[in-house]
Amino acid sequence: MRFETLAVHAGAEPDAESGAIAPPLHLSTTFLHAADGQLDHGWIYQRYDNPTQARLEEALAALDCASRSLFFSTGMAAASALLQALPAGGNVIFPSDLYHGIRVLAQDWLPRWGLQARFVDATDLASMEQAIDVNTRLIWLETPSNPLLTLVDIAAIAVLGTSLGVPSLVDNTFASPVLQSPLALGADIVLHSATKYIGGHSDVMGGVLSFSTSGDLSERCFEVRKLHGASANPFASWLVMRGLRSLPARMRMHCENAMRIARWLSDHTAVSVVHYPGLHSHPQHTLATRQMRDFGGMLSFELQAGRDAAIRVAAATRLFHCATSLGGCESLVEHRASVEGAHPTSPSSLLRLSVGLEHADDLIDDLAAALKFSHG
Ligand SMILES: Cc1ncc(COP(=O)(O)O)c(C=O)c1O
Repeated sequence: MRFETLAVHAGAEPDAESGAIAPPLHLSTTFLHAADGQLDHGWIYQRYDNPTQARLEEALAALDCASRSLFFSTGMAAASALLQALPAGGNVIFPSDLYHGIRVLAQDWLPRWGLQARFVDATDLASMEQAIDVNTRLIWLETPSNPLLTLVDIAAIAVLGTSLGVPSLVDNTFASPVLQSPLALGADIVLHSATKYIGGHSDVMGGVLSFSTSGDLSERCFEVRKLHGASANPFASWLVMRGLRSLPARMRMHCENAMRIARWLSDHTAVSVVHYPGLHSHPQHTLATRQMRDFGGMLSFELQAGRDAAIRVAAATRLFHCATSLGGCESLVEHRASVEGAHPTSPSSLLRLSVGLEHADDLIDDLAAALKFSHG
């Protein structure tokens, strides 16, 4: 079956009991079992597993070409579960350019779990190879990266990891399963913040780990979710499932709008650089055409006039709301350096856009009016 058909039908069979076409929502925290503990219906307790979540996980595994998918309360819960499930006493390689929250997790929390973080320029294969040693437990990739839209060659690093016996993970949040299939490119694990494109409506949080093989690591992640309580509530599973079914259609429009805006911004005199993998000027455009099916709804750009100009422009937009997060129907703008705490890594002249599903002409009009404020 083709991707769009899977997105609508995987895990979404009509309810056998009632005939309901829309997937049912089961909020029960507990399930009938026999007096001797036999699970008559297959479920015992919501935190372990539950029927609403099982449907979502079936759909996610189908779309990620995975042996097994696990759903978590947030993307960060999924990330933490995986890091906590790794054998202690080694190191994890992270790309130097990655989502701020994961960076803090790696720097401040990984050591508490008996692991050290090594930050490496993941665009440079030789540096990656040099950083990996016998104690490396995982290679963590994020492509495209947040917020610089840097790409990493998934297939090349997966081959390197496999040759050295180190599993690789790709944070696929910006691309979503529609635009990029890391497991098909050779990675071992995919992470999504389902809070973003998969949920798609800025009204639900969730995280996903999809595994190429349902071996020990996926089982340990299942145990961490169960025992540390990183489970999502069934309503979140239900909302994410609803989002998933229209994901391919939404992604098409996100991509179309973002491409138009990226091109328009590239020609604007107040803008020094646009970071968008769909542009020929992006240093990794060729890689993007090879490993992505389209270029996504996220982009960032920098103002010639620097930080204050960026903040003035963000404050002057009307359709683009100033807010964090991404992947919803509505367009958002954010000065990332202002929200990255005491040690921001994003350039101070950078604004990140999550391009929504409004008409591209209205979004361009909004940016045109706001960019007039870049000169003070
Ligand atoms: C690339 C990326 N990965 C992971 C996360 C964490 O996801 P969540 O906010 O659902 O915990 C985010 C959140 O912004 C993100 O942008």
